[in-house]
Amino acid sequence: MTEAKKLFVKTYGCQMNVYDSERMAEALGAKGYVTTEAVEDADMVLLNTCHIREKASEKLYSDLGRLRALKVAKPGLKVGVAGCVAQAEGEEILRRSPVVDLVVGPQAYHRLPEMVEAEGRVVDTDFPVEDKFSLLPERKSLRGPTAFLTVQEGCDKFCAFCVVPYTRGAEVSRPVARLMDEARGLVPQGVREITLLGQNVNAYHGAGPEGVWGLARLLRALAGIEGLERLRYTTSHPNDMDDDLIAAHGDLPELMPYLHLPVQSGSDRILKAMNRKHTADAYLRLVERIRAARPDILLSSDFIVGFPGETDADFQATMDLIRAVGFGAAFSFKYSARPGTPAAEKPPVAAEVADARLQELQALVTAQQQSAQKAMVGREVEVLYEKPGRLPGQMVGKSGHLHAVHIADPVGRIGEMVRARVSASSTNSLAADLISRSA
Ligand code: 5AD
Ligand code: SF4
Repeated sequence: MTEAKKLFVKTYGCQMNVYDSERMAEALGAKGYVTTEAVEDADMVLLNTCHIREKASEKLYSDLGRLRALKVAKPGLKVGVAGCVAQAEGEEILRRSPVVDLVVGPQAYHRLPEMVEAEGRVVDTDFPVEDKFSLLPERKSLRGPTAFLTVQEGCDKFCAFCVVPYTRGAEVSRPVARLMDEARGLVPQGVREITLLGQNVNAYHGAGPEGVWGLARLLRALAGIEGLERLRYTTSHPNDMDDDLIAAHGDLPELMPYLHLPVQSGSDRILKAMNRKHTADAYLRLVERIRAARPDILLSSDFIVGFPGETDADFQATMDLIRAVGFGAAFSFKYSARPGTPAAEKPPVAAEVADARLQELQALVTAQQQSAQKAMVGREVEVLYEKPGRLPGQMVGKSGHLHAVHIADPVGRIGEMVRARVSASSTNSLAADLISRSA
């Protein structure tokens, strides 16, 4: 018997890439590849890339540079580049990096198994009309009680800074029946929490049994699956938070009280220049409605500082919005000009100014995040164990609010749901005392 070929996958960027990497590894599994954690053992290396900011793209080329020595030592090594840099740069990657054998865009990766067997160097960055997901093998090889499920892909919003509409293409929703099947198939494998993924997930509008379903209806159906205890979804656009979805946060116990709802800026002038199509005030009113439906919900957001034309007053408007909302978590970035996007044509804000704003903003959101965590001390939480902790006899899992929680529980098992009382808050996690096993 020939020895299995080994596949090393490195994933950059967002959760959708994590999902895609799993699916690509499964597709290559059908060609006899098994995954390895050790790059030096690999017969094939697949880099699943991110193009969202310049730094993310640059990582690809520094990693390819490092692979050169391995390829010299192992001439049969195949190197593949997948994901959004593959989509954006295509052939250019082959020109810049001689180690690369194949380049596959995010909409073409169901063709990966054929590409691996092709002679010579190949590129596929097509946007095919067929549903790539239906051409992939059934899901298996899962690693724990939580899973991602891509329900929607692409984006039609064209925010002026963002490459996603170009790299991931137009918004496409997967049909309800396929998603229900995929979700039902995950439960017997031990999955108890599913995070629905989409670049614009709350714009979901998939073909369902009685016409088109929105995200709320999909969530309600998924909540009915026996054994599936928790649902989350990310990432949402404020303009797609419809009444039904807001109501679902109030009446679906399976829907966890955490919502990532990027606002990007608190200045109406900048929001307009970003083509966000909402104002700061509209966002604040939306937050009020969501909190009315689910008072304990934790909100998180993405922020961009130093967008072209951002003045001190614009930046202060963002800080005001952050103070007004009180976020439980936030991701903030210095604006990075992306080739081909409208904002890239405009004169940039000075780097030192953008750096200073980023620091100021991060200090504020860190303080808010810390106070949200501290507010949990003394409260009871439900925790889904995901892995053993660093200390002996300790388990780590997530609360409904997506806080990492450490619990001393020598007999705890991965995938178990427990109740615990929070005893302390440290920088990135909570500690809690076990109360009971709830399932
Ligand atoms: N520069 C900086 N941040 C960006 N993001 C998207 N495009 C850019 C860019 N060109 C941020 C946004 C988005 C998150 C995923 O990345 O905040 O919500
Ligand atoms: Fe990019 Fe999100 Fe805007 Fe779509 S909604 S263009 S993915 S930032």
